[in-house]
Amino acid sequence: MIVSFNRSVPALFGAGASLRTGMKVKELGMKKVFCVHDKGIKDAGIADKIIKNLQAAGLEVVVFDGVIADPPDFMINEAGKIANEQKVDGIVGIGGGSTMDTAKAVNVLLTNPPPISQYYVGLGAEMKPGKPLVLLPTTAGTGSEMTAISVVSNTASNTKNGVIGPAATATLAIVDPELTLGLPPHITASTGMDAFSHAAEALTSEGMNPMSDVLAEKAISLITNNLKKAMKNGSDLTARINMSFAALLAGIAFNDALTHWGHAIAHTIGTHYHIPHGVGCALALPGVIEYVADAVPNKVEQIARAMGLSLSKDLSPEELGREVADAIRGLNREVGIPSLKDFNIEKSSLEQIVGNVLADDCAMFGPKRASANQVLSLLNKAYAY
Ligand SMILES: [Fe+2]
Repeated sequence: MIVSFNRSVPALFGAGASLRTGMKVKELGMKKVFCVHDKGIKDAGIADKIIKNLQAAGLEVVVFDGVIADPPDFMINEAGKIANEQKVDGIVGIGGGSTMDTAKAVNVLLTNPPPISQYYVGLGAEMKPGKPLVLLPTTAGTGSEMTAISVVSNTASNTKNGVIGPAATATLAIVDPELTLGLPPHITASTGMDAFSHAAEALTSEGMNPMSDVLAEKAISLITNNLKKAMKNGSDLTARINMSFAALLAGIAFNDALTHWGHAIAHTIGTHYHIPHGVGCALALPGVIEYVADAVPNKVEQIARAMGLSLSKDLSPEELGREVADAIRGLNREVGIPSLKDFNIEKSSLEQIVGNVLADDCAMFGPKRASANQVLSLLNKAYAY
């Protein structure tokens, strides 16, 4: 097998790393910075701390604090317009996946004409590289700081679309686990399970490779051993460091190997029912693992090993899939991930979104194809578990 390992984003990792933001941004040649975050990060006191750090390094800062969850196309176009009017020469994004995806998409619009919709995957539009982009994750989940994709909510079609390329890739990731210390338990859980899904889907993806396998296996092991600790005691810095590291490793893994059916479902139920991304991934994953087990039994076994499960040696692929799926369901329950039923969704409505799951960009990377009926069965498994 001949594989190519994609270039990984340079990262500065460790407790207190964010205090070097101003210095690092200056080293990258920026003078006037577009700082992207949301209101929650300001309320948590994180944005002001980083902005002061940038200003102390002599940088001019233009703030955009209007990030909306699951960033919609119109908000990105608006932020891009402001950034261009202000003639900024780089971007700093501080926040979770929505903020980092916004920062990436705005970077695309700094060097390419609007609107963002013309750069969606599959449309074939040419894209110039962006300006320097520094990302600081404040959750341990999305891994967006390490990936080459920005996920945008397409309000015309009610789908999520990817924008992929150098302009949608950070120049530097600054991963400071101290920024995650104040995350409430339910966000710690959903973002942590997003990272778990990145790793489990990367391991079982059609695009899997030996490098992504190693990274994903380590990420699953770290999350299994640290997620509950980080939820129980949010100030447990060791657990937070391990979770941030796991999210980073899983991010590199799925940037190469790509995610599949779990994310196709999470994207679809995210746009249709407004289910938070990490929750959507977590509730979809057990059924997906069960479904693909006969196609990639060795990989499902690898997930079991990474989770520390002791399974009998003579299991059939189907039995193995069920055991690992049940273990993930158990973890979901322990960290309080709700099922689709808990969101008061009509079960009968699931049939209407099957086509959107099949059309999602991630669906093509599953280790086996799925019919409309099989996708409906996966959705039903996520409905109540
Ligand atoms: Fe994800």
